[in-house]
Amino acid sequence: MTGDDPLEESESGEPLPDGGEGAAGSRSSSEFRTDGGAAGADDVALDPWGSSSVSDYRKLFEEFGIEEFDEALAEVPNPHYLMRRGVIFGHRDYRPVAEALRNDEPAAVLSGFMPTGDPHIGHKLVFDEIIWHQQQGADAYALIADLEANSARGMSWDEIDEHARDYLLSLLALGFDPEDGTLYRQSTNRELQDLAFELGAEANFSELQAIYGFDGETDVSHMQSVVTQMADILYPQLEESKPTVIPVGPDQDPHVRLARDLAERMRFFKVSKAYASFELEPAERDLVADCYERLDPADVDDDSLRCVHVAEALEETPLSDLDADADTLRSVLTKLEEGGMEPVRPRTRFFDRRASDEAFDALIDAIDGEKRVYEGHVDAFEIDRAEAEELAREIEVDNGGYGFQPPSSIYHRFMTGLTGGKMSSSIPASHISLLDDPADGYDKVKAATTGGRETAEEQREKGGKADECPVYELYAYLLAGDDDEFAKRVYDECVGGERLCGDCKEQAAQLMREFLEEHQEKREEVEELLEQADIELESPRRR
Ligand code: TRP
Ligand code: SF4
Repeated sequence: MTGDDPLEESESGEPLPDGGEGAAGSRSSSEFRTDGGAAGADDVALDPWGSSSVSDYRKLFEEFGIEEFDEALAEVPNPHYLMRRGVIFGHRDYRPVAEALRNDEPAAVLSGFMPTGDPHIGHKLVFDEIIWHQQQGADAYALIADLEANSARGMSWDEIDEHARDYLLSLLALGFDPEDGTLYRQSTNRELQDLAFELGAEANFSELQAIYGFDGETDVSHMQSVVTQMADILYPQLEESKPTVIPVGPDQDPHVRLARDLAERMRFFKVSKAYASFELEPAERDLVADCYERLDPADVDDDSLRCVHVAEALEETPLSDLDADADTLRSVLTKLEEGGMEPVRPRTRFFDRRASDEAFDALIDAIDGEKRVYEGHVDAFEIDRAEAEELAREIEVDNGGYGFQPPSSIYHRFMTGLTGGKMSSSIPASHISLLDDPADGYDKVKAATTGGRETAEEQREKGGKADECPVYELYAYLLAGDDDEFAKRVYDECVGGERLCGDCKEQAAQLMREFLEEHQEKREEVEELLEQADIELESPRRR
């Protein structure tokens, strides 16, 4: 099976989606883009264990609802260079994390590593993301997904232990602080397993089948590794709920989405806006909200505007002027007519999803001001949405719930292979392992394909194609480090025809050699730190 790590997924090496973003010159220098990126018309499949390929990052936005990282960038304090350069290209709901970091409020970062091979420069991106969040004040978690490696990849425990150690050494060598952060392996974390068990009660086989393509042949342990990952993602919130970011490649997005759903399903109450005692579907509610707002304030005296009036107003409006389909309109009219003379008044609703009677009663008591209690919900007229969310969480936590916040995620681009095409751990020349002999690292870079032209003359004349160059990617993703000016200089010199590939690769190869030398020295230095860290390095399991 292939695709066992972030490197496998890459299929880039083509220009950025809109064709222009990659050009440093087309942006102000503070926001230049230096990554490769990808375009193309291929389908995007997100499969955490398969051969996901991302050939068109646009589709991730359009089809999967991943948001563009750029749009949140301004809210991030001291953004990491991977963020500044668009290597981190997408996110789900990252804003609460950015806000917590800005305000020195609790936040967490967590990612997991399947110990199936050597840690390589693709994993380094994730290590760096975890470490950066830790340095910005987040509680940092890194876990070894040994159960997943065993169940989904068939790795033996000996192999797992060996690789786990290598991942951890690189993580510490790159700056993870194990005293301040948390390391664990899935198999020995009892609390994690308990949480996985609880979360498993909220998901069923059909759902896993739909998300992951599981079928009757799928091992039960493989399914268990899914709920274990769900528990991983929510683990930082076990003691206290907080904004949590999961840095991963986009192939992991199905896991993130499921975890967000499960987090929500675990909540005792759902807070929403309502207009009358009965429930409306979101689209129906939008219609009523719209209509309510459009009614002339002169006619709207809170006590006299009733369901039938809104129904009449809706009936008088041509469907083409309403932002809804005929079915929605029909069902909303039925509900409003049934509501009859009930006043229409905006309110905040606490819907009882899975609270105990005590928790529901405690909520009712805690609501200030006018309120109405119904069978499965309570409506509050004097508190706004944000206050209501806070109250709902407080009551839940006081009554033994977790009060989970939906976890956020950030997604990085996959790197292009040094030999062109995919960077794959099964093709050693295509990628650089953090354990590669520095001399081999040098050689691999020297042998890499480039975005250069046929001849030096042509290159001087037309410039190189940095956006399609794996060597340029090395500079942007790793070798230039935090030095944006350096990355930009390489880019500008390349596309301006001043930089030729031979020298450029020589420089990159030397930097790679230095990086590997330093990194491996640091790995040795942190051996002791790892021995002292609170994580089992040897699995008690054998098979
Ligand atoms: N499934 C991830 C992978 O294939 C590893 C993983 C396990 C993970 N638990 C996680 C990633 C939690 C992020 C968060 O590499
Ligand atoms: Fe790539 Fe450097 Fe050649 Fe430009 S000059 S195409 S960045 S190797």
